[in-house]
Amino acid sequence: MSELLITGGRPLEGEVPIQGAKNSVLPILAATLLARGQVVLEGCPRLRDVDASIAILRYLGCIARWEGDSLVVDTASMDGCAISEELMRRMRSSAIFLGAVLGRWGRAELSYPGGCELGPRPIDLHLQGLRQLGAAIREEGGFLHCRAPRLRGSEIVLGLPSVGATENLMLAGCAAEGTTVISNAAREPEIEDLQNFLNACGARVRGAGSSTVRVEGGAPMHGCTYRCMPDRIVAATYLCAAGAAGGEVYLRRAREDHLATLTDLLRQAGCTVTADGGGIACRCRGRLGGVGPVRTAPYPGFPTDAQAVLMAALLRCRGVSVFEERIFESRYRHVDEMARMGARIRVSGPTAVVFGTPVLHGASVRSTDLRGGAALCVAALGAEGVTRVGALHHIDRGYEDIARDLRALGADVIRQATDEN
Ligand code: EPZ
Repeated sequence: MSELLITGGRPLEGEVPIQGAKNSVLPILAATLLARGQVVLEGCPRLRDVDASIAILRYLGCIARWEGDSLVVDTASMDGCAISEELMRRMRSSAIFLGAVLGRWGRAELSYPGGCELGPRPIDLHLQGLRQLGAAIREEGGFLHCRAPRLRGSEIVLGLPSVGATENLMLAGCAAEGTTVISNAAREPEIEDLQNFLNACGARVRGAGSSTVRVEGGAPMHGCTYRCMPDRIVAATYLCAAGAAGGEVYLRRAREDHLATLTDLLRQAGCTVTADGGGIACRCRGRLGGVGPVRTAPYPGFPTDAQAVLMAALLRCRGVSVFEERIFESRYRHVDEMARMGARIRVSGPTAVVFGTPVLHGASVRSTDLRGGAALCVAALGAEGVTRVGALHHIDRGYEDIARDLRALGADVIRQATDEN
């Protein structure tokens, strides 16, 4: 195991390139099952969740190999439609493979995806939509036995604008005969990125980014070379790092149109945020002003994935900041760890009230989940003294090398092995 040693209390100064988006590349890796031919994903981020997707593709008989910073995938040699329970449990978003495997193979045998630290992660909307496309799905003992000899386009209305369900149904729709219309679709930028990838492979998908996505199924799909969008939540993390520590940072490739709700809040809190064609600059001086209520919501609302890192930036705010987590049931697990650093936060159900405190002190803390772990790193940058952040495997799911990136921004961060097993 390893841990981060972060010495906080000094302003940041530097520039860092933003990695490719985890939540784009994961559905895109599933989508490669629909393409006959080689796919080259340029600038693919090296993440534990990407490793888990590669393991699934290889388990299905596909080729996936790194060539520099590109991941080359060829699924022509796919030789099965069953994904082992161990692999499905390694990553929550493994459910995204269901639509692609069904579309390619006509069958799929997999277990429910991995549990999650954020609370229940049902996939009822995925299954309901796939059944509307003609899939017969039998759920037994935590396993899904799926048959879809012929998928037929349909009009699907999602009960919730679920990101994963929208993506699964876009993929299955590409393999279906006729037109599939997904209403109340999720509007996240990663959905649009997936549409762009699918169309680069020859599919005919329209409307991603709006609430209605339309797929003309049955188009033959070939390989392509694609570079996914920059990771907006990684960018949010480093903007909040500047908010916590003060200083001036430049995030190359970051897109403000993907983060407007966050940049508006940082401006309200007293930061100067400016975007040019190449990235986002953020300058913060002294303690931020309190903001809120920050309500998490489906895009274009405030992203739930940025809730923890913004909270970390506001722990020393002047006054009070209020959060309302409306997407996941249990997304305040980082609060107790932040309290070890002297943060004053009161949680009541979906609401968290941050009473700003002038000084935080270094402590020994453990990541509780992916974004909660990143938030502890952000909080540590604003704390006096040294903070040890453990359980880094959570953070490594979504950040290529958070220590490297924070050092590029001038932070004092060391990753070292521990004797913990
Ligand atoms: C995606 O998860 C992201 N993951 C999550 O990012 C993100 O937090 C989430 O969207 C919301 O933006 C990936 O893209 C890989 P949802 P997903 O389906 O697709 C309920 C991170 O940190 N729901 O939009 O699982 C569900 O319980 C991760 O990078 C159903 O009830 O999210 C949740 O309350 C964490 N039934 C809400 O919808 C369903 O069938 C949103 O879930 C599906 C979802």
